[in-house]
Amino acid sequence: MHILGIETSADETAVALLDINGNDLGNLNFKIQGSAILSQITKHVPYGGIYPNLAKREHGRNLVPVLMETLRAASDLPHLSGSPDEKIIAEISVILERETELKEYLSEFLRSHAKPSVDAIAVTYGPGLEPALWVGINFAKALSLAWGIPIVGVNHMEGHLITGFLNPSLGNSNQTISSSTETYSLLPIISPVLALLVSGGHTELVLMREWMKYELLGETRDDAAGEAFDKCARLLGLPYPGGPEIAEFAREARASGLPRIAILPRPMHDSKDYDFSFSGLKTAVRNAVHEKTLSKDDVRAYAREIEDAIVEVLVKKTARAADEFGAHAVILGGGVSANTHLRIELTKRLSGTQVLFPPPGLSTDNAIMIALAGYFRAQMKEFADPVTLSAKGNLRLAD
Ligand code: KG4
Ligand code: ZN
Repeated sequence: MHILGIETSADETAVALLDINGNDLGNLNFKIQGSAILSQITKHVPYGGIYPNLAKREHGRNLVPVLMETLRAASDLPHLSGSPDEKIIAEISVILERETELKEYLSEFLRSHAKPSVDAIAVTYGPGLEPALWVGINFAKALSLAWGIPIVGVNHMEGHLITGFLNPSLGNSNQTISSSTETYSLLPIISPVLALLVSGGHTELVLMREWMKYELLGETRDDAAGEAFDKCARLLGLPYPGGPEIAEFAREARASGLPRIAILPRPMHDSKDYDFSFSGLKTAVRNAVHEKTLSKDDVRAYAREIEDAIVEVLVKKTARAADEFGAHAVILGGGVSANTHLRIELTKRLSGTQVLFPPPGLSTDNAIMIALAGYFRAQMKEFADPVTLSAKGNLRLAD
């Protein structure tokens, strides 16, 4: 099956085309025919976080160019030989009536390009920023109509989770793959699997006793782990997104053996449940640095303390859950899973258990993970109704 993934839940506009075969973990294989991501990060930097209406506008502008780049990478951008179906283009204009620029770009695209070899469309419908999600969903609906193929709605967090099953040989650099002739596979892991999903909007501990069936063990009660990195970084005067910045400054602090600058709280470290809370950490950082001029070494030392605090809590609860539920493997997913210190500490703590991470370049948002999760949902015939499919900002994997 050739499946096109579309991801617009936050500040990355991403499209990927996968050629997937097989139906369970052990025998599935796929090729990345094309993949493209356009990050809006620099546009959101002045706001210190994602500005939803700006994200919506940028997705509307970027989706057609990103689709074209993906199809070009896949060598599947056929020109239209006959005349375009103006009736369909008129219907699409209705679907895209709220996305003026996207409507214009897509109509132009459909007037000059024929249907590529795609069997289904997988689109993120939540969780995320609703105005941003809607752009991707409406785009998927328009393409589904134009090409006469079904849509699958994908939970963004399921995409992050499934990325952990990818055979680690996938890719060997931090560069996002644009296209590849290599054949990839998934690891045939036995349940139960525990997943720690940590991104800019979510922090969840999820138990998968059966393939693609989830139990939520715990989640954050306030800020997500990525949000904590972003907000604390901002308090240290570091740009958005704060995670990679804090990680780099913390690495420097460790490398140069800087002494501890403050003792920040490890919120809910010893609570008996599997919930998290990170807003107190941000408040503690705010109080600690208030009206102080920080030297570069101060920033490094604070970054290390912040990273230690977040990682210690995540590792402690994940390890306890892995023990309690007898997890055969622990998967780390979401943007924060790119954090090297977290990867090292979790692997160290869980030395008898298989600990899996997304391959390089696939920790943060991308459309390969959406196409992959969508493929499994398509195998289960979970196709969406193009009329009623809608954005669910607070979509959950489980209750
Ligand atoms: O999954 P993702 O790309 O987008 C959402 O779905 O939210 O996650 C983005 C988050 C941001 O908060 C970013 O600061 C964080 O992931 N992040 C990191 C690192 N790389 C990205 N946090 C810690 N260390 C990193 N190396
Ligand atoms: Zn994400």
